[in-house]
Amino acid sequence: MAKTPSEAPRPVNFDRIARPYRWLEYGTLGPLLQRTRVYFLPQMLDCRQALVLGDGDGRFVAELLRRNERVRVDAVDTSGAMLALLERRARSERVTTHRLQAMDYVPEAGTDLVATHFFLDCLTQAEVDALALRVAGGLVPGGLWVVSDFRIPAGVMRWPARFYVGMLYRVFGFLTGLHVRRLPDHVAALTAAGLTRIGLRRRLFGVLTSELWRADGNGVLQ
Ligand SMILES: C[S@@+](CC[C@H](N)C(=O)[O-])C[C@H]1O[C@@H](n2cnc3c(N)ncnc32)[C@H](O)[C@@H]1O
Repeated sequence: MAKTPSEAPRPVNFDRIARPYRWLEYGTLGPLLQRTRVYFLPQMLDCRQALVLGDGDGRFVAELLRRNERVRVDAVDTSGAMLALLERRARSERVTTHRLQAMDYVPEAGTDLVATHFFLDCLTQAEVDALALRVAGGLVPGGLWVVSDFRIPAGVMRWPARFYVGMLYRVFGFLTGLHVRRLPDHVAALTAAGLTRIGLRRRLFGVLTSELWRADGNGVLQ
């Protein structure tokens, strides 16, 4: 049954926090999130066609373009303000922006890199499952998918991590209308989509994860 407007969840909108986003991040976690985003950049230097989902203000795209002089980037985001910042920061004809729901975007033929930094946590489990299948299906064999995200580690850090992530969800829910309240299991989604994790780096007592996944499952990076 169709939802009436009062029942429908408010659409997520990051426009309002696009400008202060970077300073909010630096003010809370300093350089940790950017280090998490760029950790696997050395493995992306041969990529030629990247799809970057929900890159926000474009700090990862700008760094990717700076380090890889041949890559072309499709950047997909629902926030016009974030995409405007991304275009300004990237200043490159190699970037095409798409103001779209990530789930509605069909990857370009030849896509050999997908990047989702602190983005999958904006989606429900069902959305991540569907997105992983769709996007992984568009990756060339050997194509890479880099993920940065929060996680709840095992052990004593589980409780402060739950508190911290829960607080982040409440703040972002208030500021952007985000209705997701728990981290989806992207590992299960990417594995089910046929990808293999080939690189892993944890920070902040296991609360931050950088992961590199590959479409054909051969080999393991150390
Ligand atoms: C938490 S921010 C992360 C930004 C950046 N990737 C980072 O590393 O900080 C999430 C970004 O995803 C975008 N976004 C949220 N839901 C989306 C969706 N369903 N489709 C496309 N973009 C979305 C937001 O507009 C925002 O720019």
